[in-house]
Amino acid sequence: MNSTLKTHGPKLLLGITILFTYALLIMGNVVTSTGSGLECPDWPLCHGTVNPPKEIGIWFEWGHRLLGGITGTLIIFSAIYMIKKTSGAVSFLLKLVVGLVCVVVVLGGIVVLTEAPLLDSYKKVMLVSSHIIIAILIFTSMILSFRATFDGGENREKVYSLWLFGIVFFQVILGIFVRYSGASLSCPDWPLCQGSVLPPDYSSAVLLQYVHRLFAYGIFCLTLWRVGMELISGQGRAAPHVLTFCLVATQATVGVLMIWTKLFLPFVILHGAVGFLVLGWVTFRAGPYLVPPVAEVEA
Ligand code: HEM
Repeated sequence: MNSTLKTHGPKLLLGITILFTYALLIMGNVVTSTGSGLECPDWPLCHGTVNPPKEIGIWFEWGHRLLGGITGTLIIFSAIYMIKKTSGAVSFLLKLVVGLVCVVVVLGGIVVLTEAPLLDSYKKVMLVSSHIIIAILIFTSMILSFRATFDGGENREKVYSLWLFGIVFFQVILGIFVRYSGASLSCPDWPLCQGSVLPPDYSSAVLLQYVHRLFAYGIFCLTLWRVGMELISGQGRAAPHVLTFCLVATQATVGVLMIWTKLFLPFVILHGAVGFLVLGWVTFRAGPYLVPPVAEVEA
């Protein structure tokens, strides 16, 4: 892969910002998994101060907000820096990112002020889910912009990369709804669901969990098939596909362990962390087919 930008500053800053955004997604997962979402009942301060009481739950939530503040600032700076250096699709995408950052900050505030983590209504499930879905849109848009600073991909990868990206993106959204609608243990067993091969009932909780599993099997088979095809072709291009499969297999294994251990916290956090990593990686791979390589704008 060759760089399409002469100056490396904007690309480096964007790369660092993507890492911060990933860390923030994990931190958000830790906050909700430990039930710390309302440990700071006010917003933007925490217990009316910037130095809240030293309790673990409070510091998870306050740490999430501090990291959010740093990451939000980094996103805006790196986006503006890159917008100045580029034009076309990347510039448009990053302007969208800046807008989405404003939306996600306001939504985060509304989540706290309306005590949405208590999830006692359909509206609150949608509110918390939309906060994280927008965060994911920001994450993937930045990866697409970053990928566009390198030259394009091979045509033979196009159809597969785009399909995989689409399916994984949908699977991640499904996972978020599984989590925030409280459907995580609606199938408390695995490989069966309530002892049955087919969905035992057609409630939304069971269907969400069941479809999330079906998509996982689909993604597992698709990525395994691709590794097999690359190995058979013997052209020495299997490495990135092996990496994709390993990430997906890890994710599926952690998903099963999560069910078997009835949502043991480290597995819950790992399932979020690896899930976002899989999404980031397949977004990077699909990048050249979604956003064409960008050239530097002359000053
Ligand atoms: C390619 C495979 C998979 C991907 C990409 C994926 C992705 C995700 C994501 C992103 C979340 C939301 C995490 C968060 O908000 O922090 C999630 C939640 C969940 N997934 Fe998966 N998943 C996969 C496979 C599986 C499998 C095989 C199972 C079970 C057999 C499973 C069970 C669950 C459960 C129970 C939740 C809710 C967890 C909670 O309450 O915190 N997933 N998934």
